[in-house]
Amino acid sequence: MRRLLVTGGAGFIGANFVHHWLQHHAGDRVVVLDALTYAGNRNNLDPVRQRPELHFVQADIADTALVESLLRDERLDTIVHFAAESHVDRSIHGPDTFVQTNVIGTHSLLKAARKVWLEEKAVAQHRFHHVSTDEVYGSLSATDPAFTETTPYAPNSPYSATKAASDHLVRAYHHTYGLNVTTSNCSNNYGPYHFPEKLIPLMIVNLLQGKPLPVYGDGQNIRDWLHVSDHCRGIELVINNGVAGQVYNIGGGAEATNLTLINSMCSIVDAHFARDSALKSRFPNAPAAHGKPSTSLITYVKDRPGHDRRYAIDCRKIENELGYRAQTTLDTGLRATFAWYLANETWWRAVMDGSYRECISQQY
Ligand code: NAD
Ligand code: DAU
Repeated sequence: MRRLLVTGGAGFIGANFVHHWLQHHAGDRVVVLDALTYAGNRNNLDPVRQRPELHFVQADIADTALVESLLRDERLDTIVHFAAESHVDRSIHGPDTFVQTNVIGTHSLLKAARKVWLEEKAVAQHRFHHVSTDEVYGSLSATDPAFTETTPYAPNSPYSATKAASDHLVRAYHHTYGLNVTTSNCSNNYGPYHFPEKLIPLMIVNLLQGKPLPVYGDGQNIRDWLHVSDHCRGIELVINNGVAGQVYNIGGGAEATNLTLINSMCSIVDAHFARDSALKSRFPNAPAAHGKPSTSLITYVKDRPGHDRRYAIDCRKIENELGYRAQTTLDTGLRATFAWYLANETWWRAVMDGSYRECISQQY
């Protein structure tokens, strides 16, 4: 039985992970620590809120004293660290909070873990799992081999630079102090509870509302898409069977240009509207409600500064050593994700609050 502290557990991936863990590890204690930097994230744990194993604490990871007492009082033995500022565009507009949370915040957590686990020896065994990103490896050309765990770091945005710094701190706490750490670097996630400022959920909510689909630059940038359920299983494998001090890449094996992905989403939406006439009255502004192709909303906009051209993950290490396999194809995953947004309109309308609209208007 584990006793987990899940930082950022109310965010997109964190909440999916908490749902997954409670479903597969009944009886484990799960303490979620999240600052709720987006008010809407409050709702992401609704389906499991009544579970007696779950305890939610709204706090900042940089509150070292609070984290220390949680680790001590709850006898927690595992930290799964998701909490971060995670949106590249926001990091371009305002890098300071990224340095504060991703670097200083991660270091505060490491300090708390070192004190309670290594100095006070509060638990017999411990594990600090750090969730990171493929963006720390930089940008690939069309012909470069995919990122492996030994690809040199070359972060290009303030976001990826702060994630790279946090990865180095986690590594240093293992080598210097003997903290039992693992790190996973994954590609672009998508799925339920994805905040609609990121590409896929933004396209879905804009398609339904008949709003432009903003394509940065020429739309030929490539991402390697990973369904969040596959990511959660990958993290679970690393926590349970990964070797301390090791890094594991987690990918979905699904590279696509942004334009290909957006065209696929448009086809899925058009097909849904053609099949289900009730959608026409639910979403009267969608072009598909009037028999027009959803692709008519595609709008080319100014490129993201320093926009990385291509990410691709080589995840043979986690496949060979821990038995990981991505199970969700991009096509299946996109269909399931669109169906989730259709079934959860209340959720996405609620998260698109005042602060969300302010960020979107600053961006586009
Ligand atoms: P998210 O923005 O949806 O969630 C992050 C959560 O962290 C939010 O609930 C937020 O309230 C919380 N948080 C932010 N600052 C905090 C602080 N100071 N103290 C406590 N909580 C704080 O992001 P996500 O997409 O779920 O990403 C989770 C992690 O996975 C991040 O570390 C991110 O770098 C990493 N990651 C994400 C992706 C992706 O495609 N989304 C891919 C690779 C890696
Ligand atoms: O690779 C992992 C990373 O994936 C994570 O570390 C980040 O936390 C996560 O946000 C994501 O970063 P990206 O920048 O790749 O994701 P985003 O959804 O912001 O953009 C995906 C691609 O789509 C990217 O090439 C930019 C482009 N894009 C994005 C938006 C929001 C557009 O063309 N139009 C848009 O409106």
